[in-house]
Amino acid sequence: MKRFSKIIGTGGYLPETIRTNDDISKLVDTSDGWIFERTGIRNRHIAAADETSASMAEIAAKKAIEMAGIEAGEIDLIIVATGTPDRVYPSTACLLQQRLGIQNCVAFDIQAACSGAIFAMSIADQYIKNGAADKVLIVGSEICSRLVDWNDRGTCILFGDGAGAVLLDSSEEAGILSTHIHSDGEYENLLYCPNPQAATDKNQAEKGVITMRGNEVFKMAVNTLGRIVDETLTANNMEKTDIDWLIPHQANTRIIAATARKLKMSMDQVIVTLENQGNTSSASVLLALNEGIRSHQIQRGHVILLEAFGAGFTWGSALIKY
Ligand code: UT7
Repeated sequence: MKRFSKIIGTGGYLPETIRTNDDISKLVDTSDGWIFERTGIRNRHIAAADETSASMAEIAAKKAIEMAGIEAGEIDLIIVATGTPDRVYPSTACLLQQRLGIQNCVAFDIQAACSGAIFAMSIADQYIKNGAADKVLIVGSEICSRLVDWNDRGTCILFGDGAGAVLLDSSEEAGILSTHIHSDGEYENLLYCPNPQAATDKNQAEKGVITMRGNEVFKMAVNTLGRIVDETLTANNMEKTDIDWLIPHQANTRIIAATARKLKMSMDQVIVTLENQGNTSSASVLLALNEGIRSHQIQRGHVILLEAFGAGFTWGSALIKY
């Protein structure tokens, strides 16, 4: 009997404090008009001093567990995608496991920058399909505001904090139809965040902040996401018209619009959370998925295409029948 990974719950969390474009224009030479026109962003949420990736993950995860109507103890595997782990180790997934009071499941983090949630879905789907797990909790949780140089107008306008969660269960019904993930370390220098504690003598002076050649990343993202759309449709023998919803990584509305155009989809079929959340890295597609499902825009039976692109470069897609 064929096994699929079916979505049984989603959750999200956004910190209370909101930083507007006008707030940022007091820090660097920019304006609300420029930021909105070039990125589609107006606001982003900023974690409080006592919040961490694990604390935000806990809130998002509990909402997904509640929606699914299961006990936390039924979860077999927790995968957390984050670029801002609370500790180098234990993993944020282990910290989340403890917060959820789960004694006996497997828990680990993955690092694929903004593509983290898609990579986690791909891993979870392999575990479920081969029978190694039934219920898998995936969380993307990020405190990007602590990695941002608030003096760099090329990056500080973009990022926000938040956590998104999805709970998968094994099912005879589709489910995740396919996942496609890729990496190319060739492009390290276009988008990176150094770890000062691991610095060698050579890069000792590097600050632990996000460093990006935005325009080059932008062009690569548009081209690469166009290719992953083709790869996904071909692998499933599907047409563009078979897709009901696009759930893109939320980095820039111009990148999102380019992918929608490629799919000949109207923006009404795209879940966009960017305007009030900014780029929350690995949390972004999970937060958008949660919003699409909880607003009842996405209905059971709809086909949704999730895609993401991030540092590495890493990129990927997941085609899902909800
Ligand atoms: O999530 C991971 C993947 N990340 C992304 O996908 C991010 C992709 N990149 C982007 O979203 C865009 O490249 C940015 C929004 C970061 C920048 O937009 P852009 O249209 O690519 O601008 P640019 O870097 O080509 O800069 C154009 C001009 C420059 O001025 P000059 O040299 O033409 O005089 C910049 O100095 O805009 C200037 N500029 C700004 N002006 C006002 C750059 N940032 C700002 C700013 N406010 N915040």
